[in-house]
Amino acid sequence: MKITIFGTGYVGLVTGTCLADVGHDVVCMDVDAAKVARLEAGEIPIYEPGLETLVRHNMEEGRLRFTTDAEAAVRFGTLQFIAVGTPPDEDGSADLQYVLAVAETIGRHMTDEVVVVDKSTVPVGTADRVRDTIARVLDERGESLAFEVCSNPEFLKEGNAIEDFTQGARIIVGTESEWVKGLMRECYGPYIRLQEKLMFMDVRAAELTKYAANAMLATKISFMNEIANLAERLGADVEQVRRGIGSDPRIGYHFIYPGCGYGGSCFPKDVQALARTAGDVDYSADLLQAVEAVNQRQKQTLFAKLSRAFDGQLAGRTIALWGLSFKPNTDDMRDAPSRTLMEALWAAGARVRAYDPEAMDECRRIYGERDDLVLVADRQQAVAGADALVICTEWKVFRTVDFAWLKDELAMPVIVDGRNLFDPATVQGHGLMYFAVGRGNSL
Ligand code: UGA
Repeated sequence: MKITIFGTGYVGLVTGTCLADVGHDVVCMDVDAAKVARLEAGEIPIYEPGLETLVRHNMEEGRLRFTTDAEAAVRFGTLQFIAVGTPPDEDGSADLQYVLAVAETIGRHMTDEVVVVDKSTVPVGTADRVRDTIARVLDERGESLAFEVCSNPEFLKEGNAIEDFTQGARIIVGTESEWVKGLMRECYGPYIRLQEKLMFMDVRAAELTKYAANAMLATKISFMNEIANLAERLGADVEQVRRGIGSDPRIGYHFIYPGCGYGGSCFPKDVQALARTAGDVDYSADLLQAVEAVNQRQKQTLFAKLSRAFDGQLAGRTIALWGLSFKPNTDDMRDAPSRTLMEALWAAGARVRAYDPEAMDECRRIYGERDDLVLVADRQQAVAGADALVICTEWKVFRTVDFAWLKDELAMPVIVDGRNLFDPATVQGHGLMYFAVGRGNSL
């Protein structure tokens, strides 16, 4: 099957590569010539375990190609996936300019019937706008070619994208067209396990499913963070509460880990966008707004705890920071809690010595050279000469720690752990002050 993917960002690249890997003929188009050149040289612009090998293999086999040539890309695929970015507007709603620009491009260059597949996370009603745009451009050209637009939202997690693609819980396709259903079966069919997971529904339900899934997961996290904050003040251990409630299958263990707030390119953006959409149809999405507000507050708790540990005297202090990415196995720092913390520390006159297994370049790119940020080569060096340690990301490598050594290194024996990595009694047993999330000791 011939498939065109517009956008070689995270979603586009994973989708294109995985579809090529089961034998489809895939062309990925991007307007960013530098990015396409890097991809053609087998260089992957993002960190995602397993992706590079898969890209190179499929390029060598000739099933995966990259181009900046929009016209050739449109003429190539029977399926045309739109996987470009939908960054938040100033008011939090999703900016559709890139999605609609692809629709224009398709309308301008198509010479045969095509099925356009919305893969980007887009507000309810976008498929209609994509359809209208293509129809308008075709009309301007005086052409009347058949086309369909369907919604096929992605549910990939960064760091686990290939597995999520090939063994996901479901594939949602919003369409009423039998033609589209047949093509989508053919597209995902080679992944035997995915065949049974194809769910057809109407377009708007598919579009809303994507937001509802992310909003539900974000809600679970904010709820748990609220319980953790309460636990801290009530002298209860939220880890025991988590196990207690997770054992009820109606609640489950997934996504109830309290922490220093959710980040990344999806939850913050999608919760805000859905709340915005609600406003557009005169509905006040109070729960979604609370989920967002609780998360904003949670991201500030690391600084608040440090500040209390130092009686508000953070100026001139050096804080060691382990973990910059918004979660492990990615170099992505979008909306990461580490950023809220570092920016608050800098505003308070403190310095940061940070280490992350993957996100150091990204951090350099975002913040550039500055006197109050030192990026070091390993976690030991981060701690050397620091006053206290904060953990922002639960990278595996941070889970084993020589606490006696840590006690010697830190000027003040303070650990603020935003991810509840350790047993408080063990850490405290080494004479360290340990402030985790919701573990009974309010600071
Ligand atoms: C999320 C969804 O999990 C995917 O299903 C979805 O496809 C994706 O967004 C998207 O819309 O593209 P992702 O943002 O990659 O995926 O990351 P998650 O693993 O979901 O983590 C999100 C944030 O929640 C992280 O900051 C993580 O630390 C936090 N989290 C997660 C918690 O604080 N507690 C938990 O129990 C779970």
